[in-house]
Amino acid sequence: MRGFINLFPLIFLLAVFCLEDCLATDIIRINDQIKDQETILSSSQIFKLGFFSPVNTSNRYVGIFINIPAQNVIWVANRDNPIKDSDGIFKISEDGNLVVLNGQKDILWSSNVSNSVRNSSAQLLDTGNLVLKDNSNGRVIWESFQIPTDSLLWNMTLGASRTEKIHLTSWRSPSDPSIGNFSFGVDPLRIPEFFIWNRGVPYWRSGPWNGNVFIGLPAMNSGYKDRFELRTDGNGSIYFTHSILNDSVLLYFVLNSSGVLVERVSYYSDGNSNITWLSIQSGCDVYGKCGPFGRCNPLNSPICTCLKGFEPRDTQEWGRGNWTGGCSRKAFLQCDRNNSAGQENKLDGFLKLENIKVPDFSHLVEFLAANTVEECGNLCLNNCSCTAYTYYTGIGCMQWTGSLIDIQQFTFNGADLYVRVAYSELDFKRNMKAVTASTVIVGFLFLVLCAYFLRKWFTRHRGNKQKDQELSLFEAWEVAKMETTLRDNLDQSKLDDLPLYSYETLANATENFHSKNKLGTGGFGPVFKGKLLNGQKIAVKRLSNCSHQGIKEFMNEVMLISKLQHRNLVRLLGCCVERDEKMLIYEYMSNKSLDAYLFDSRKRDILDWNRRKFIIEGIGRGLIYLHRDSRLKIIHRDLKVSNILLDEELNPKISDFGLARIFGGNQDQANTTRVVGTYGYMAPEYAMGGKFSEKSDVYSFGVLLLEILSGKKNTSSHDNENDLSLIGYVWKLWNQNEAVKLVDPALFDPQIEMEVLRYLHVGLLCVQESAKLRPIVSTVLSMLNSEIAELPRPKLPAYTARLGNTESEYSQLRGFSINDVSLTIVQGR
Ligand SMILES: *[C@@H]1O[C@H](CO)[C@@H](O)[C@H](O)[C@H]1NC(C)=O
Ligand SMILES: *[C@@H]1O[C@H](CO)[C@@H](O)[C@H](O)[C@H]1NC(C)=O
Ligand SMILES: *[C@@H]1O[C@H](CO)[C@@H](O)[C@H](O)[C@H]1NC(C)=O
Ligand SMILES: *[C@@H]1O[C@H](CO)[C@@H](O)[C@H](O)[C@H]1NC(C)=O
Ligand SMILES: *[C@@H]1O[C@H](CO)[C@@H](O)[C@H](O)[C@H]1NC(C)=O
Ligand SMILES: *[C@@H]1O[C@H](CO)[C@@H](O)[C@H](O)[C@H]1NC(C)=O
Ligand SMILES: *[C@@H]1O[C@H](CO)[C@@H](O)[C@H](O)[C@H]1NC(C)=O
Ligand SMILES: *[C@@H]1O[C@H](CO)[C@@H](O)[C@H](O)[C@H]1NC(C)=O
Ligand SMILES: *[C@@H]1O[C@H](CO)[C@@H](O)[C@H](O)[C@H]1NC(C)=O
Ligand SMILES: *[C@@H]1O[C@H](CO)[C@@H](O)[C@H](O)[C@H]1NC(C)=O
Ligand SMILES: *[C@@H]1O[C@H](CO)[C@@H](O)[C@H](O)[C@H]1NC(C)=O
Ligand SMILES: *[C@@H]1O[C@H](CO)[C@@H](O)[C@H](O)[C@H]1NC(C)=O
Repeated sequence: MRGFINLFPLIFLLAVFCLEDCLATDIIRINDQIKDQETILSSSQIFKLGFFSPVNTSNRYVGIFINIPAQNVIWVANRDNPIKDSDGIFKISEDGNLVVLNGQKDILWSSNVSNSVRNSSAQLLDTGNLVLKDNSNGRVIWESFQIPTDSLLWNMTLGASRTEKIHLTSWRSPSDPSIGNFSFGVDPLRIPEFFIWNRGVPYWRSGPWNGNVFIGLPAMNSGYKDRFELRTDGNGSIYFTHSILNDSVLLYFVLNSSGVLVERVSYYSDGNSNITWLSIQSGCDVYGKCGPFGRCNPLNSPICTCLKGFEPRDTQEWGRGNWTGGCSRKAFLQCDRNNSAGQENKLDGFLKLENIKVPDFSHLVEFLAANTVEECGNLCLNNCSCTAYTYYTGIGCMQWTGSLIDIQQFTFNGADLYVRVAYSELDFKRNMKAVTASTVIVGFLFLVLCAYFLRKWFTRHRGNKQKDQELSLFEAWEVAKMETTLRDNLDQSKLDDLPLYSYETLANATENFHSKNKLGTGGFGPVFKGKLLNGQKIAVKRLSNCSHQGIKEFMNEVMLISKLQHRNLVRLLGCCVERDEKMLIYEYMSNKSLDAYLFDSRKRDILDWNRRKFIIEGIGRGLIYLHRDSRLKIIHRDLKVSNILLDEELNPKISDFGLARIFGGNQDQANTTRVVGTYGYMAPEYAMGGKFSEKSDVYSFGVLLLEILSGKKNTSSHDNENDLSLIGYVWKLWNQNEAVKLVDPALFDPQIEMEVLRYLHVGLLCVQESAKLRPIVSTVLSMLNSEIAELPRPKLPAYTARLGNTESEYSQLRGFSINDVSLTIVQGR
């Protein structure tokens, strides 16, 4: 008898182990107890419930964690009342509630919902939710998702109604799960938007929800990110849930004890987890960093500046780097002025700021009935209390009253914000200058035209037969028109940055365009090396006279490039429009183009793996700038190895924007009747249908990437049996799991194999046949540097078979007339 009593605990313990290991139950019933060291698992073993101690403490807590070695805790029951020893118990009490008891049977925590349900059970679901059910009717009477701690899991709801708020609350410290200073949730009184509060004071915000994304989180626009969904009921309640794209990863958010919302991804397969996003990435993400009417730009130093028409409220404090005081107006608005003589008609105006994280709404803003940005602006102008407005697709007209706080400058995906300023702050002076300048230019053009007439008249009478060398009158008009557009479009301040060179200067610099100075022939004419009198080296691109459409390309190029400045783009120094000659003057790149290194057996060793990575990344940066960050959306359309130039330090720079077209604001695909580009680099939809978009550049980028990795040209043959193109060859090796074979032997090093494979993988994603499947360039870069860890499987790429070598063969192959296409087949400079 005695022996049996002594054995009893042991038998019980075994039974409990069985509970976990044999029964693998996910249910707690009325008589079950979970003791310290014991756990239960959800049915797919993704989540685990049990006792744990945070770092640096022996206190015990009951929690739910992800069933991976790192045991990330996602929920804590008794967060405010730790168990001091290892005698704790988690069970369903007599009154039907879940409770945490200590060794003395004191209740440290209770679900505290029912006192009438006598028969209930709890289940740990595969979503991470612990639900308590009334067994008599199956009703859920309590769930852990209703009282989250610091983690937001998929399918969990955060939100607020008038009576109830569901917020995340941070731990006090990594070793103390009790409620800390920070909380995360939605404010029901405002336009739907996430906030992090520090003891109730805003610390971070996501920017308003546009039905799809939060417009203050530009990185969220990438299709690979998590998806949120907004739910509302008629009574002013707002809830967000988030769901993930992929069943094999768990994506969730944690508000850590220093107030940073961290997005984590855990992989069920190998138990690894990784941080994929942070709410605070720079000082600018902290709410109101620059105070009222201040603008924060993380790329500037100092990061804060006052909006135009405003000055620091306290210059000394501002100078010390305490910007929270913000800025104040330099001049009174029309409604605040006492109308003295001469000021009655001076109406306020708006200054437009581009790519902005819109300010916080300090007052509830009704959605205004305005269907266009102009209507929205008129409503604002006519209301004295309106200080700024934005018209954003998916949200509509938003207006602000009072101070504008928490304005951040983005480089892409931001909104246009129109800020009200007094008449005196509007930019009339510059406009006056523009008017004068255009008058002068129109006069100048008139003279140029006269000169053309005269010259034509003279040459005709001299019987000169060199007609081809000249511009027709029509073309002269066209040039004039283009030049006017050029001047109108150029920022007046930028005009000084684009000097006009005389023909003589350039002829002297290039020794009269001597062939020994010829660097190569680009798509639209030869390029010469030159040296100005002051010693500066230049590259002069001389537009071929025989090319009729060349004039158009030239003007296009001048207009575009003069506006683009980025360290991965070749700089345009000036231009020359003289003697029927059109020339562009670029900065000189001492190391010529990438193909001079890549396809040269003696020089390719210089390009080691890190250098190649650097070059690929640089090209990507330049492309992002062209596609997203510059004021215009520009598709390059002729990206290839010979268009990547290298400076002294082998920094890559993209050249030749002659083919780029200006896109309208939200247009992302266009048709063209003239296909310009280089075969082997052209995406199928562009080569065949003349349809170009960001994604056709991504295709060319993919080809470039594969060429840089392999050190081989796409257009040469790579598999003698099957006459495969480089892409076809990569695809074949990839499917045989032998992709490493492709890599340039100059690079070979087993240590970098994984990284190289990742690059190849991304390259294949870029050259997929379907433009829709190709990632955008910013996503490509995130994939390359592992910010996006999970890569989708590449689908069949385009052009796996090698293309014919001549223009006509190519045209026949694709079944269209040679007149529709003009291909640049000369490998340029
Ligand atoms: C735990 O304590 C050690 C020693 O005091 C300290 O170095 C460490 O930073 C602490 N860890 C955390 C997460 O607080
Ligand atoms: C349970 O709820 C009651 C009333 O709602 C409250 O007074 C009590 O403190 C709660 N108990 C626990 C353990 O939360
Ligand atoms: C509780 O309900 C379940 C299912 O209805 C039943 O099987 C069980 O016997 C009940 N337990 C008690 C103690 O009433
Ligand atoms: C997520 O919630 C939706 C709606 O509440 C539900 O239909 C779906 O089954 C849930 N998903 C999981 C995995 O529980
Ligand atoms: C919470 O905020 C208060 C006041 O700012 C500060 O004294 C305290 O250290 C903070 N607590 C933690 C855990 O950061
Ligand atoms: C809105 O509130 C009213 C009164 O409080 C309630 O009767 C109604 O059910 C609520 N509607 C929804 C959708 O929750
Ligand atoms: C999820 O990711 C894994 C690993 O990358 C992949 O094998 C699987 O196909 C993906 N599933 C879906 C539905 O995308
Ligand atoms: C919170 O997350 C940020 C970003 O990862 C990190 O710098 C910080 O140390 C974290 N805070 C704590 C207390 O872990
Ligand atoms: C997690 O991220 C780091 C750095 O970004 C990376 O080195 C590591 O491979 C990633 N781990 C996984 C499992 O993706
Ligand atoms: C910054 O300035 C504000 C008032 O403009 C003041 O309240 C605050 O204490 C200052 N902070 C520091 C660190 O000096
Ligand atoms: C306008 O006039 C009122 C009363 O005459 C005066 O108090 C106020 O300071 C004046 N405001 C300005 C901007 O001159
Ligand atoms: C001006 O705007 C405020 C705030 O949006 C609004 O309350 C007020 O009615 C408007 N006034 C007029 C005249 O429209």
